[in-house]
Amino acid sequence: MHVICYPDLPRWRDGAAREIARRLDDAIRERGRATLMLAGGSTPRPIYETLAELNGVDWARIEIFWGDERHVAPDDRRSNFRMARESLLAPLDLDPVSARVHPVPTGDQPATDAVRYERLMRDRFRIGPTAIPRFDVVLLGMGDDGHTASLFPGSPGLEEVERLVIHNPAATPEPRLTVTYPLLDQARSLIVLVRGGDKAERLREVLTEPQHDYPIQRIAPHKGELLWLVDREAAARLPAGLCSDPTN
Ligand code: 6PG
Repeated sequence: MHVICYPDLPRWRDGAAREIARRLDDAIRERGRATLMLAGGSTPRPIYETLAELNGVDWARIEIFWGDERHVAPDDRRSNFRMARESLLAPLDLDPVSARVHPVPTGDQPATDAVRYERLMRDRFRIGPTAIPRFDVVLLGMGDDGHTASLFPGSPGLEEVERLVIHNPAATPEPRLTVTYPLLDQARSLIVLVRGGDKAERLREVLTEPQHDYPIQRIAPHKGELLWLVDREAAARLPAGLCSDPTN
């Protein structure tokens, strides 16, 4: 696990965009394409906006998925797809419904849409019904209750070991679809984006007190990296020595 703490919000935003772009470029160089799983919520928005402005990212070779979704219409203000369409897809002029952009379907029953999305993932990765896709870059946020994606404390999704995408019943205003740990743990690079002083204490617990067993603490990449990109305010309560300075 590697934690990079940035001295201010602009450098967190710009640094995170560069870290993501670097890993996408590496994947394209090594395998001819990259697969990116987006996080939802509000934290990633400025990073997506900056990512869209970076030169040299070969978006024609990047396939975009989502790690979780509120089961609402795609133009609903709660939609994670809508947030990414506004902050990343539109500035890049990427067609939101194309061969490389794969929003989570939300037009059917939640459980049906979850099955459909898992099938789509396997189709795009050209793997069989029991194989697990290995994403190049998975972006995640952290809720103030220690959830990530839509894996909430006490939710049944925490125990899912077979399915890769599920409807995960939780105390949220809308149904939630989410990827599960078997999929997350296969990623080459898991990048957790954390911003703001309101998350400082929870981040300290998550990074230094494993006994809490928060959902985000259960992420255990098999062969990939787990990288935390944290702004100064969110890092305020971390013990000295846990943070690495940004290299650029
Ligand atoms: C969602 C996200 C969720 C998010 C955290 C943090 O659908 O809400 O996927 O996991 O990353 O709740 O949310 P904020 O970035 O808004 O604090």
